Amino acid sequence: MKSLLLLGAGIYYVRAIEEVKAAGYRTVVVDRDPGAPGLAIADAPHAIDLSDPDAVLTVAASEHVDAVLPLNDFGVRSAARVADALGLRGLTPRTAELACDKGLMRERWRLDGLSQPCFRVTTTHADVLRAALELAMPLVLKPADSGGGGRGVSVVRDSSELDWAFKFAAAHARNGRIVVEEFLDGTEMTIEAIAAGGEVHILAVSDKLKPPLRTRVASRLMYPAAAGPETIAAVHELARAAIVSLGITDGPAHVELIVTGDGPSLVELGARGGGGHVFSTIVEAVSGVQMVRESARVLVGDPAQLTVRHARGCVYELFVPRSGVIREIRGVEQARALPGVLALGITRKRGEVLGELTDSLQRSGFAVTTGRDREEAIRRADAVANTIEFVLAPVEVAHA
Ligand SMILES: Nc1ncnc2c1ncn2[C@@H]1O[C@H](COP(=O)(O)OP(=O)(O)OP(=O)(O)O)[C@@H](O)[C@H]1O
Ligand SMILES: [Mg+2]
Repeated sequence: MKSLLLLGAGIYYVRAIEEVKAAGYRTVVVDRDPGAPGLAIADAPHAIDLSDPDAVLTVAASEHVDAVLPLNDFGVRSAARVADALGLRGLTPRTAELACDKGLMRERWRLDGLSQPCFRVTTTHADVLRAALELAMPLVLKPADSGGGGRGVSVVRDSSELDWAFKFAAAHARNGRIVVEEFLDGTEMTIEAIAAGGEVHILAVSDKLKPPLRTRVASRLMYPAAAGPETIAAVHELARAAIVSLGITDGPAHVELIVTGDGPSLVELGARGGGGHVFSTIVEAVSGVQMVRESARVLVGDPAQLTVRHARGCVYELFVPRSGVIREIRGVEQARALPGVLALGITRKRGEVLGELTDSLQRSGFAVTTGRDREEAIRRADAVANTIEFVLAPVEVAHA
């Protein structure tokens, strides 16, 4: 039996681990938290830090794994270290560096002439001010390496906002580097793909809704993206080129881009499946391709089924209520029983204070709805959103 090393055992990865087991592989799973639910179902659980490449390599070698699959950005460098040291198919250390540093990523894409905003990679406040003068407002400031989730990412509409944006980015910049780039105005899309032997298979494309805030956390992803065939072809082409440019030849990838008046332009890429329910649930609902299983097959060298079987609708609804203190959350059970609801969860409790939506972790819950097409999935997501009610009290009143 072949063994697959999975990096991550949090609640969102349980289904991925189950899929790999169901596909007939032995699962070796690591997570720093000994209580992580994915460890309980693993064939070989190890409570170690998945972002520590040496510790992960020790486990991989002793368990004789045949491949390694990172489930989030924190595991990408470790996965590459294992593949490199043990001679496995998958990420190289160079590709992992490019995929985990948005500055290096943009520099690589610039060398390959891919469509993206003008940018500067900076480290100090003075550098940021200089870059802001050289580029055109509005700008986006972001840490080069934060681990994702929108941490430290904000839009700057005029220079008075630069100080806040710099501090926000610097607080999350794990290697001290901050990318300053021009703001792309348009529709944001996400692309889920699997590379196999250097060929990129695109499985699903969504467009995203964002609340109009300076931070950029999404509130809804809709599949398939609503755009004409020419735009979708251009999106596919750019996503493919972005994946190839960074050297991802085998395994999953998640690309983000914005379709502007001049066509698609790259935001960033992850050398892993999409976050939350995307990798394990949504891609399968949309395309009929079980993305986790097929990624595992590609990585261990077994024949994979990478052809899209159907194009159904799906919505990933992410609850982002206004700020306040949660008094009560109503309608959860009724919403869960609505047609086409694949998953629904609330990640906040009564009494918690909802503040500014600074990153994805501040969201209050999720729902996944499916339908024959995009429109049906959207109607069902609207029904869920209308059924769930966050009853909020103003922060001052609650503290009085
Ligand atoms: N140049 C840009 N122009 C417009 N919007 C941008 C730009 N760069 C980033 N954004 C917005 O900010 C969001 C977060 O940025 P980015 O993806 O680079 O950070 P992240 O921390 O990796 O976030 P996530 O994990 O949510 O993908 C993007 O999804 C996009 O909506
Ligand atoms: Mg992103």
